This record gives sequence, structure tokens and C-alpha cells, in this order.
Amino acid sequence: MCGIVGYVGRSPAAPILIAGLRRLEYRGYDSAGLALQEGASIVTARAVGKVVRLADKVRLEWSEVRQAQCTAGIAHTRWATHGAPTEANAHPHMDASRRIALVHNGIIENYRVIRTKLEAKGHRFDSETDTEALSRLVGEFYRGDLRKAVIQALRQVEGAYGIAVISADEPGKIVVARKGSPLVIGVGDGECLVASDASALIAHTRRVIYLDDGDVAVVTADSVDITDLNDSPMDRDVAELGIEVGAVEKGGFEHFMLKEIFEQPESVRNALRGRLDVPNGTAVLSGLSSSARELVEMQRITMVGCGTSLHAGMVGDFAFEDVAEIPTEAQQAAEFRYRNPLVDGRDLVIGISQSGETADTLAAIREAKDKGAMVIGLVNVVGSTIARETGRGVYLHAGPEISVASTKAFTGQVAVLLLMALKLGRGRRLSRERGQFLAAEIGRLPELIERVLLQNDAIAKVAEGLVRHEHAFFLGRGPMYPVALEGALKLKEISYIHAEGYHAAELKHGPIALLTPGVPVVVLANRSPVTDKVLSNAEECKARGARIIAVITEGGAGAAVADDVICIPDCDPLVATVPMAVALQLLAYHVARLRGCGIDQPRNLAKSVTVE
Ligand code: G6P
Repeated sequence: MCGIVGYVGRSPAAPILIAGLRRLEYRGYDSAGLALQEGASIVTARAVGKVVRLADKVRLEWSEVRQAQCTAGIAHTRWATHGAPTEANAHPHMDASRRIALVHNGIIENYRVIRTKLEAKGHRFDSETDTEALSRLVGEFYRGDLRKAVIQALRQVEGAYGIAVISADEPGKIVVARKGSPLVIGVGDGECLVASDASALIAHTRRVIYLDDGDVAVVTADSVDITDLNDSPMDRDVAELGIEVGAVEKGGFEHFMLKEIFEQPESVRNALRGRLDVPNGTAVLSGLSSSARELVEMQRITMVGCGTSLHAGMVGDFAFEDVAEIPTEAQQAAEFRYRNPLVDGRDLVIGISQSGETADTLAAIREAKDKGAMVIGLVNVVGSTIARETGRGVYLHAGPEISVASTKAFTGQVAVLLLMALKLGRGRRLSRERGQFLAAEIGRLPELIERVLLQNDAIAKVAEGLVRHEHAFFLGRGPMYPVALEGALKLKEISYIHAEGYHAAELKHGPIALLTPGVPVVVLANRSPVTDKVLSNAEECKARGARIIAVITEGGAGAAVADDVICIPDCDPLVATVPMAVALQLLAYHVARLRGCGIDQPRNLAKSVTVE
């Protein structure tokens, strides 16, 4: 949610900042801007729309010679919270003297109070943003020491922030601070970068410092000094980044989403690597080994997450109850947090998050921790806040996911949840034989995904039948119910077709009224104990003239009722959730492509939502 990048060093800052913004664009893309230190002043450029608009503006307005003289600056790509995506609302925001510039991720909750006080002092605001209240407040406190002014301003602020600030009077210095929004500092050779996400840094350095909440850092070309808001020095380790530049590039694919869909045999293989113990019918999860005994004794498990991660948790819910025989529930993280959840020391709460930064998921695990529950994380981004705050858990090892619509994170999450269910199950009542069978089936996942990917062209053909519709339904039962929700989510977020995921049995309790001739209904009818029931539901839709797109098991039932058929390989019904999801990802992708949609950056969305 919004991207921040900053640079201080010896090279021209503008091209580095713009390249960094391009890498972060998936976090927000309503508008973008940058501010550079130029001699004893600050110059800014801002533009509505994608980073390319800002890049054009910078190229037209500032000559290369001029840019070469500016070797420090900050930049931002925005996902609007307060105020429409206009140039006036784009970051950076300045203080009243126009000698301090600030970029911000998060929300300043008491900004109206601050704004009213500043207006009473004569400030005239240029924007509708919460951020401008903060930039002006920093200016109010400024007496020649930017770090001190930032600390004084932040002491008055309620809410979440990751900020980067520069002053015309302190060249070669960026002050950054975080509370609730991630920030990472890249330590290079005679240069430093700051960013809200490590993918903006990897072209320059692999040595990074993750800031913690409450940290304030002064960053120059050769130094990083970190304190807390009380001025006490803080020691933070320098970590080595494990990702390669290629991992954040498209590598010949038309879109990141397609690349990430096709990466899934490998990303799921990485999620499973070294973790399956087929002979003993169990899984080896080193991140949980210290608490293995406690885990199997839990009375109840709650999965918390948002969006696609919530859907993965809902699949996990089925797997945990079926395989581990522990009462399990998946809850939307914001709901969990605000409903006074009934958890205590006998509960396990699993925070599921690709980014590890989603505000509601983070708040939910904090609430669970406060109530004494055991909390673990299921996270993709190494070093992210949820990973660090849970302290124990399992990484997905899916690599960077750039497309806003999540794909490989979902399949990685489901794969790991299946491993967890297996491990817990074997610590309880699951027989070695069923454990061995499931372990072997889970081990087939990369191959099962590959077989779905081989049908890419056939699925693209099926997609042609959906392109001209404005409504669609996805129906599933059992563990395929959350996959139906996920399939509908994929379609709506990237193709803008209104798609509803429904429990197949629930359709006739209302939504069936919406079926008119030709409306596409995607029916998830793989081999399972409820295949016949699902197919009966498909018949009910067909009888109302719907166009049935059935995703069935190769050689299995279901083709007769369908106008279009997509096949997934035969496998255990829990394991089948993964190849099923891959088929639906491809379907959504091709529909969106045929409709000419942006795909990697759908309107109004952001990759990581760090506000409530
Ligand atoms: C945003 C993204 C979704 C994602 C959700 C949860 O809404 O657009 O794709 O599923 O956040 O993100 P997380 O990083 O916690 O999995």
C-alpha cells in the first residue's frame, strides 16, 4: 500500500528513484512523485497515474545535467486513502517553508486535529491528505535538526506511518521512521537506499536493515544511525537479502501474473522442499519443532487472514478438521480483531499473509497474543512484520509476488497448510497409512500443477466464452467452496466482471434468481464424495439457461452437463484444491487479457494493505 523509495549517494538520484518506484508500483499506482535535494533547495515533481507519467515529466522538465547534480531524494507511489488521486494530493508533501519534503505510507488518524491547530496558526493546506499535516508539523518543529523535528512531530501523531523526509538545509541526509508500515534500509558502497519493500533495493545492494516499529533512522551515503522516539540508540542487524533481481522481473512473460502462475510448480516445490516425510506419513516443519508437543494439544485452531490468504485459511480449515481432527475455523482478520475473540492459552492462531504486512492480520495476531493464544505465522515475505512478531511459523518460499492478484502465494499457503495438517494429524489420531497416502499426494503437487499449465491454450479458449459477460458465478462444495470464492475473486479483481463465489447448495436460496440465459457458471466438480451433489446443482443452473463451465477430474463425471470442460488430474480431494485453483487463475487471466485489462495492477487495488 503506497511505495516509498529514497536514495542518498554519489549517483544521480532521479533515475534510481524512478526505477525503484517501478519496482514498487504494485503497491499503489494512483499517482507518484519525487523530491530531490538540489543545491540549497528542494525540487519536486508529481503526476497522476502510473510511474511512467512521472518519469516522462521528470525527463521533460529536468535536463540530465541538472539531474546529475541531485544525488539525494525521496519518492512515492500512492494508493489513495485521504483525498482523491490528484496531483495536489500526490506525495511528497512539503512544510510551510517548502524546505522540507516528506513521503508517507499509512494513515495519520488524528490529522484533523493537527490540521485544525496548524490552520489556526496560519497554515494554508495545499492538499486534502493526512500526510500534509505531518510534513507541516515537522516544519513547525524544525530548528536546524531534521531528526529532532521528525521525532517531535511523530510524538504528536496517532496512527500508522512509514516516512522518509529530507530538508534543503541538510543535504545528503534522509530521515526515516516507521510505526505500522514497513521500511527497509539498503546499505551499499558509498550509497544507501530506503524503501517500503526490499524489491526496490536489490538492483543496488543485498545488505539490508529492517526497521522496527518506533525506530527513527538518519541515513547518509556512508552511515545509518538508528534511535527510538526517546532518542535512545537502537542496534539493528544487517541482513543479507535472499532474492535475485530476476525474481522481480517479468522474464519474457506478458504479465507478472502469468509468470507467477507458471512459477507454481517451482514455488510449491520450494514450499515442500525438505518438509515431506512420506515413509512416516508426516511433515517436518522446523519452524514449529520447538512447539510440536504444545501444538498437537491445542483445543482449537483459528486461521486469520484477508483476501486470498483468508481463502487459503478456509481450505486449511477443512484440512485441519479432516486430517488433524482439531476444531478449526478461518476468520477474516479484521472481524476477529474487533469481535473480542474467545481465545486463550489452549488456542492456536495462525496468521496467514503473503506480504506479512497486512494491517488487519497483524492486529489480529497481536490481539490473539494479548489473550494468551499461541500464535504462528504463515508468511511469504522473509523478515516481514508478521514473520518477526510471531517469531515462529513457516515461510512459503514462493519468492517475490509482484502481481496484485495473488496466485503462487495461495497455492504455497494451501500446500503448507496441508503439511501442517499432516504433522498435527500424525501427532494425534491420523494413521500412518493415511498419512503416507496424503504425504505422497501432497508430494505430487508440482506435477499436478504442471499438468494444468499444459492446458493453458485450452483454458484460453474457454475464456472466450466469458469475455462479453458482466456477471459470473463460481460454485463449489467442501474444500472447493473457498476455491470457488478464490476463483471468483481472481476474475472480478482483474477482469472487472462481477463474479460471485457460492456454496453450490446455497445458490438456490436466492442467487439463482440472477441466472438468465447464457450467464456463465463455473462449477468445481472434481472427484470427491460430493461430486454428484455438485453436478445436480450444475443441472439446476443449466435448467435456467446458464452456460456451465465445469472443472472436472480427467476421466471423471461432469462433462455431460457442461458447455465447456476444463480437466484437472485425478488426486485426493483436499490436494485437488491446488490444481483447481491454478485452472481458475488461468481462466481469470485469459478473460482479463481478452478484455484488455491492466492485469498486474487492477484499478483501485494495492498489493499490500497496511491500513485498516
Ligand atoms: C490485498 C491484496 C490481496 C491479498 C490481501 C491480503 O488486498 O490485493 O491479493 O490477498 O491484500 O494480503 P496478504 O499479504 O496479507 O496475503
